[in-house]
Amino acid sequence: MFRSIISGLGHYVPQKTVTNQDFETWMDTSDAWIQQRTGIVTRHFVSPGEGNIEMSFYATQMALREANLKNTDIDFIVLATLSPDYTFPGTACFLQEKLEIPETPVLDIRQQCTGFIYGLSIADQYIRTGMFKTILVVGTEVHSTGLDFTTRGRDVAVLFGDAAACAIVQRFDGQEERGILSTHLFADGRHAKDLWIETPSCREHPRMTQQMLEEGSWYPKMNGKKVFTMALKKFPEVIQVALKANQVELKDVHLFIFHQANLRIVQAVCESMAIPFEKTFNNIGKYGNTTAASIPLALSEAYQAGRIQKNDLVCLSAFGSGFTWASALIRW
Ligand code: COA
Repeated sequence: MFRSIISGLGHYVPQKTVTNQDFETWMDTSDAWIQQRTGIVTRHFVSPGEGNIEMSFYATQMALREANLKNTDIDFIVLATLSPDYTFPGTACFLQEKLEIPETPVLDIRQQCTGFIYGLSIADQYIRTGMFKTILVVGTEVHSTGLDFTTRGRDVAVLFGDAAACAIVQRFDGQEERGILSTHLFADGRHAKDLWIETPSCREHPRMTQQMLEEGSWYPKMNGKKVFTMALKKFPEVIQVALKANQVELKDVHLFIFHQANLRIVQAVCESMAIPFEKTFNNIGKYGNTTAASIPLALSEAYQAGRIQKNDLVCLSAFGSGFTWASALIRW
């Protein structure tokens, strides 16, 4: 059985910065409300002509540079997004075209906020069995073209931002106990409609109507309190599962990367588990919730900032729409 390591990380955020003050001009909200409830100050939005394809391409270029690899070294692409550029084919097909690596297999996955950890888990299994040696795992999201920027949508619109980030997952042939130690995946579809987008829907005849457009059923809807409460329950559970599986204690972990949904969630989980807040890395203030991109974006920035050193134990955890939740423990 082989082990997988992360040999390169990359990220890209679009240039356009949107502040809480911008939202104040569009809807009934305030910078103070947004900051107090979420910790978000700014987020980045794509401009016309820019989508997941371009963002994930730039992020991949950075990760390949970090790993000292070429496009053609990639054996497989796993791409997580809830906001694909097109309904089909998957965004990974377009990324593969842009990377000019025809015939390389690609796989799009959904899984929303846990998409990157699900993707990491898929990559890890393919590496462990020996099928692939070098896998690109991407999380990418364009939220800004599908948010309701009127007061009706204020509970959701202020939370999200656009970004792409990725990891190169590679086979590790060394003897040391390094790499992805374990991944842990969960889901509970009973809560599918607590955070979802209803239309366009293949169940509808036709999939999209003028009425749906006007009613705003194509915007994300969220039961914010339910999401918040469940997140506080599931983050500790999923972190404990990862620690237990590897027989390590909380104090052994050097860095916790939480899905960046809301700074208050991270603070509350740290408090309930007695995790020192300094052991977390957070960038939600700058980027908002970038869903599938959130964990690799935090991981990549934490790495750039020197917060992750060789042999460090890093714990990733996420919770979100589905509901889905997941964790991964990595010895760097
Ligand atoms: N600006 C100003 N007021 C707003 C607002 C905004 N952007 N959004 C909602 N409000 C209002 C509500 O209408 C409500 O008004 P009311 O009391 O007159 O009805 C009031 O603020 C309080 O709303 P509430 O929903 O109780 O706020 P909250 O403290 O629960 O915070 C969230 C709302 C969305 C920040 C919080 O529920 C949350 O973070 N949930 C989890 C979200 C999440 O993580 N989603 C992604 C999952 S990965």
